[in-house]
Order: sequence, then structure tokens, then C-alpha cells
Amino acid sequence: MMNLCKEELFLFINAYYGFILVAVVSLGVTVLLVSKDVRLRERRDISIPGQLGLPFFGEIFSFLSASNSTKGTYEFVRLRRLWYGLWFKTRILGKIHVFVPSTEGAKRILTNEFGLFKKEFVKPMGDFVGKKSLFSAPAESHKRIRRLLSDPFSMNSLHRFVEEFDNMLVQRLKKLEENGKSFSMLEFCMKLTFDAICNMLMGIMDENLLRQIDRDSKCVSDALLSFPLMIPGTRYYKGIKARDRLMERFREIIDRRRSGMECQDDFLQSMLSRDSYPSDEKLDDSEIMDNILTMLLAGQTTTAATLMWCVKFLDDNREVQDKLREEQLHISQNKARGYSLSMEDVKSMSYGVKVVKETLRMANVVLWYPRVALEDCTIEGFEIKKGWRLNIDASYIHYDPELYKDPTQFNPLRFDEIQKPYSLIPFGSGPRTCIGMNLAKVAMLVFLHRLTTGYRWTVDDPDPSLEKKAFVPRLRSGLPVTLKPLEGGR
Ligand code: HEM
Repeated sequence: MMNLCKEELFLFINAYYGFILVAVVSLGVTVLLVSKDVRLRERRDISIPGQLGLPFFGEIFSFLSASNSTKGTYEFVRLRRLWYGLWFKTRILGKIHVFVPSTEGAKRILTNEFGLFKKEFVKPMGDFVGKKSLFSAPAESHKRIRRLLSDPFSMNSLHRFVEEFDNMLVQRLKKLEENGKSFSMLEFCMKLTFDAICNMLMGIMDENLLRQIDRDSKCVSDALLSFPLMIPGTRYYKGIKARDRLMERFREIIDRRRSGMECQDDFLQSMLSRDSYPSDEKLDDSEIMDNILTMLLAGQTTTAATLMWCVKFLDDNREVQDKLREEQLHISQNKARGYSLSMEDVKSMSYGVKVVKETLRMANVVLWYPRVALEDCTIEGFEIKKGWRLNIDASYIHYDPELYKDPTQFNPLRFDEIQKPYSLIPFGSGPRTCIGMNLAKVAMLVFLHRLTTGYRWTVDDPDPSLEKKAFVPRLRSGLPVTLKPLEGGR
């Protein structure tokens, strides 16, 4: 064929036109397909593995089934990590979710909050906590509201909280001791933390009022992820009605304070003391009220569940319990009978602080921290598309064997060593770090002090099953416990 002259070539093409056309087209299509496949494979090399499941629904049914089991919601993540590796993606109700398992990933996302990434809340959440809540306020007002809310939660402002929480706890433990019966540690801690936070925020001590607010705030909490359908009888409807009642109560309290009928040394009073300030230096009433409700919702279950896990970990690890008791008895030995703990005492609990850290590491009551990518980007070489949901997987990070030797061992002394940045993030990090972090930590230390210096305890049901459909992992049993007074205890 190489020797064919022009005319012969023309004739050849003419005679075999159909055949040649088919051959050229086939060759072209083959080249196209092969190069596309190569490109796809190249892309797959840096794309995140995982199954997207059914169109739109994705893997929602597996997710719900995990959350409805006694292994807990995190089982969904654990299994996929076994199947696909550390980084994986999934689809839930039309949104792609990526689970981010590394300190580098956590740092990248949390230091770019409001820039490349932001927190997004489902609509009903905003209906319940309100538009001015830290949970739902847009970036600019979030910054201002947070700045103005923060002071009462700083370590320096929590002296009074320490003393009042301590007194409340001593009385309640005494009652349980006198009663001598088994009780649910979780239930006890839910009531204790709710009452303590309510007292800190609005100086409320009246038992009736506390229970009414508690009931309504539980109703709101139960409705947070409900379908927004304002029909009597639905969870959404009940939640909205409960929010209305709560707002009415908060309004009455604010009015009483403003009229001078009532004055307290609490969070609310510190907010109202700015009434005469310029508008960017004070919060308006709806900002105050939305955020009081936000604190109640964000602070109660998280703190109570962490306390419950702490009691469980100490029961499982008696040598840690003994060492902690030794430190705490040392603090109480120099005190008069009937003493109250002070912030200085709390600050001196160096082993207690490590027990608290280790509890927060292992309990992971907030499993992951969700953010949305606002632009296409890459994290650690993985391709992230605009609109994808990135879940910073604190639970994985806290159990990563590269960061923590024997991660399933409850070992407070591991915190004698300096930790890698972003390896312990139970309260998140960056502009959205938990605002109640100090309050939760001091409450845990006071709780540990009173429990170990006054009592020994037995756990009356060792069942490790988790509560079904719970936002926050908690034992299904609620951890039934019986207290025994400590011989020679204070
Ligand atoms: C052991 C107890 C607690 C744990 C483990 C915890 C954990 C967290 C975490 C991880 C975040 C950030 C989530 C994210 O970045 O997506 C957060 C935010 C928040 N927490 Fe806590 N929390 C606890 C107690 C409290 C308490 C006692 C309060 C208030 C009384 C509180 C109020 C808040 C609020 C208002 C936010 C939102 C902050 C913002 O978006 O600016 N938390 N918490």
C-alpha cells in the first residue's frame, strides 16, 4: 500500500470507503474511550472511595438502621472505614458526606471556618433555636453575638458557678446516699446539669419552674430533626409550641429584672447590665433569649453524658479511681467540715484534669463536626467538591493509634506527654469552639471530687448497649449505680 500512486489511492479509498469509514470511526471511538477511561482512572486515584447508594436517598437507610441499633450511629462510620479505608464518602438525602479522619484535615477545616467552610444547620433547627442563636446566626452576627456572650463562660467568671454547683451536688448526693437505692446515673446527671446551667444563666432555683423549663426544652430537643409540618400532634408542632412557652418565660424574667423586681448575679444580669451601651456592644432581647435556649440545649445532654461515661470509665479502671481519690482526699483533708470547693481547689486538681481529658477523648459525646465546602478544594490530596459535607471525625481522631498508644485503654497519664495539635478536640476548635467548654470542665472536676471523696459505688447493670436514636452516645441502661459512703470520707 506504501507504493500506491495518488490515483490508485483515490480508487482504493473509493472502493473501500465504507470499510475505511467504519475503521476510522471505530479507531477514533476506541481512542476516545481509552483516554476517557485513563482520565477517569486518574481522577479516581485522588477521589475519595465509598458507595453513594441509591439516587438521592443514598445510604440513609443504613445510617438510620445504625442509629436505631444499640451499637449507635457511629457504627455506620466504623463499617465504611473498614470497607473503604480511612477517608470515605457516602450520600445521605442528596448530599455527599466525607468523613475526615485526620488532625491535618481538622486543622484545615476548622481554621477556615466562614471562609472555605461553614457550618450548616437543617431548617427545623433554626425554627427552634431561633435566628439569633449561635447555631443559626450568619457569620458576621455570629462573631458579634459570640463576643458578647463569652465573658460569663470564661474561667475567671466561673468562681460562683463552682461554689453553687458544689453545694447543689453535695445535697443531691446526700439524698441519694440516704435513700440507699440504685439510681440511673444518667438521669441524675441530666437533672443536675440542667438545674446548674439554668441557675447559672437565669438564677432559677425554684423546682417547679425548673421542671417546666426542663420539659419544654426536652420537647424542643426532641423536635430538632423533625419534619417541618405544623400539624397538631407532630413532633415539630409540639417543639414549636414548647419554644413559644420558653420564650414567654424568658421574657417575663427579663421584664422582672428590668423593672427592678428581681436582681441576681448571673449570666442574664450581666447581659442586661449592658442596656445603656451602644448597639454593637450589647445583645438585644431576642439575641439573649435565643441563646439562653441554645445553651440549655447544647449544654445539658453533652455534659450529663460525659459525666455518666466518666463514672463508667472509673468503675472499669479501679487503679485510676484510687489514684484520683487519693488526689481529691488530699485536697479535702486540709478543709473544715462542710467546706465548699473553690476555683483554686479546682485548679489544683492536676490528676483530675487528666481524668477529664481522657474521659472526653474516649466518650466522644459529639461524634463529628459537620461543615459544608463553599468552594472546590483539596484536603491532603483528596478532591472535595463545592457543596460536599465534611464531617470532622473527632471520634476517629481520638482513637487513632498513630496519635494514642493503646487507644481503647483509659489512661489519664498519657496526657503527661505533649499532644499533637488537633489530636484532642472534644469541644471543637476555631471560631465555633464550644462556648461552654470551661463550665463543662469545672463541673466535671467538682463532680469527680465529691463522688470520689464521699463515696464508692457499684454499677448495677454492666450492659454496654447504647441508647437507640440518641444524638449523643449514652448507655441504654442509663448506668444504674448504688452509692456507698466512703469510710473516713468527707
Ligand atoms: C462535656 C460537655 C460538652 C461537650 C463535649 C461539648 C462539645 C461541643 C462541640 C464539639 C462544639 C462544636 C461543634 C462544632 O464545631 O461543630 C460545641 C459547640 C457549642 N457548645 Fe458545647 N459541649 C459541651 C458543653 C457545653 C455547655 C455546658 C454549653 C453551654 C452551657 C455548651 C454550649 C455550646 C454552644 C452554644 C456551642 C456553639 C458554639 C458556636 O457555634 O459558636 N456546650 N460544643
